[in-house]
Amino acid sequence: MEQTELLKPETLDELIKCLHDIFDSDYINVEEVQGVMESYESKPQEWMKYAKFDQYRYTRNLVDEGNGKFNLMILCWGEGHGSSIHDHTDSHCFMKLLQGQLKETLFEWPDCQSHGDMVQRSQRTLQENQVAYINDSLGLHRVENVSHTESAVSLHLYSPPFQACQTFDQRTGHRNTVKMTFWSKYGERIPFGTTASQENN
Ligand SMILES: [Fe+2]
Repeated sequence: MEQTELLKPETLDELIKCLHDIFDSDYINVEEVQGVMESYESKPQEWMKYAKFDQYRYTRNLVDEGNGKFNLMILCWGEGHGSSIHDHTDSHCFMKLLQGQLKETLFEWPDCQSHGDMVQRSQRTLQENQVAYINDSLGLHRVENVSHTESAVSLHLYSPPFQACQTFDQRTGHRNTVKMTFWSKYGERIPFGTTASQENN
């Protein structure tokens, strides 16, 4: 029998433990993962050591490798930082706001024949502790911290883990495959020279 009662992790460590239990199973219940991630109330002192900012663009900071089933990471968004429009390489993607706000814009997959602007489907602003979910069947998205005064921090879970994704040019729909790297792992900065191609989440 699957574990169905709603778990309420009190700390980030408890949340990670819950996620390990959930992803032990081969069947993933999206609502269950979303519910557990949402019920954790963000406490900066618990995730501060992973939250490493860069002046020029958002950073990806690995928190946990989920026994090979998922990657859990913290993304740090300075004022005005944003991602490209990107896909999720056939994985589940959960994104929880730990601090600040992020704007998520959903796009349709571009038609191979068309070369014009990509079709924007919806837009919303995610608030602290909210959890968004996306996968490739739901479309593509861009994530942005549009604030000029506040940074933002988000917790992302990708299952199965992936190391490359596609980014899309909003004006043409043309795509590029991009390899993703980490700014830090387990709170330690990755040595200089290994992060050159850091891209989207
Ligand atoms: Fe994403």
